[in-house]
Amino acid sequence: MRIWLFIPLLCLVGCSPASRESAPGANAPPAALAVAVQDAAIKRGKAVAAETFALLSANLQSAIQSGGVSNALPFCSLAASPLTASMAEKHGVTLKRVTHKPRNPTAKADAEELAVLQAFEAALITTTNPPAPFATNLVSGQATFFAPIVINNELCLKCHGEPGRDISIADLAIIRQHYPQDQATGFRFGQLRGAWRIDFPLGSLNPEPQTAAQTP
Ligand code: HEC
Repeated sequence: MRIWLFIPLLCLVGCSPASRESAPGANAPPAALAVAVQDAAIKRGKAVAAETFALLSANLQSAIQSGGVSNALPFCSLAASPLTASMAEKHGVTLKRVTHKPRNPTAKADAEELAVLQAFEAALITTTNPPAPFATNLVSGQATFFAPIVINNELCLKCHGEPGRDISIADLAIIRQHYPQDQATGFRFGQLRGAWRIDFPLGSLNPEPQTAAQTP
């Protein structure tokens, strides 16, 4: 049962091409984030990600149960995006999966995100102890949360592993049909698949009171 809870969850995490607004004036280097703001972004990032996982997981779970991987693949392609967008809207954030090996082309990491992925990869020693999420200042007026996504379950390989061995030929055909440019195969257990990115408007984060002194 554990498997069925996990796979839908992480697949759907991946199935979430979401809008990311480019902030006006993003050319100016943003101010460094106070530690309290980073902590607030990490806390909220984990919570928003968990809530999104749960929503998407429930939906993908039923897709797999009713028709297996071959049914879940089209589901990922069609239904996950609107669900994820609804979560982004609810929380007033932008949500995105970024990766060095995209399936959905919108998930392709930019230069800054690639640097984050490389750092996660370097810090990834065991799947049971993945690198910690963090928050940073990539865009003015925003706090950007990152968390690693690791291939931590054999069933990820049904859709991201070696074609012909882990991925059935029939499922590979479905993947190619939906994603002609797919690069997200050939992964092995324990490898970094990508990262979760959540951008919070700074005004939406409420650091702990002791550091958020407000003087009129
Ligand atoms: C049923 C097949 C299936 C399974 C199982 C699956 N994925 Fe995916 N995954 C997909 C599809 C399809 C996409 C593209 C979704 C989209 O269009 O946004 C995707 C996208 C992703 C992405 C987003 C980046 C990209 O390349 O588009 C990540 C990250 C990801 N998957 C991780 C995982 C992990 C980790 C697991 C195992 C826990 C997993 N997936 C299991 C089908 C699957």
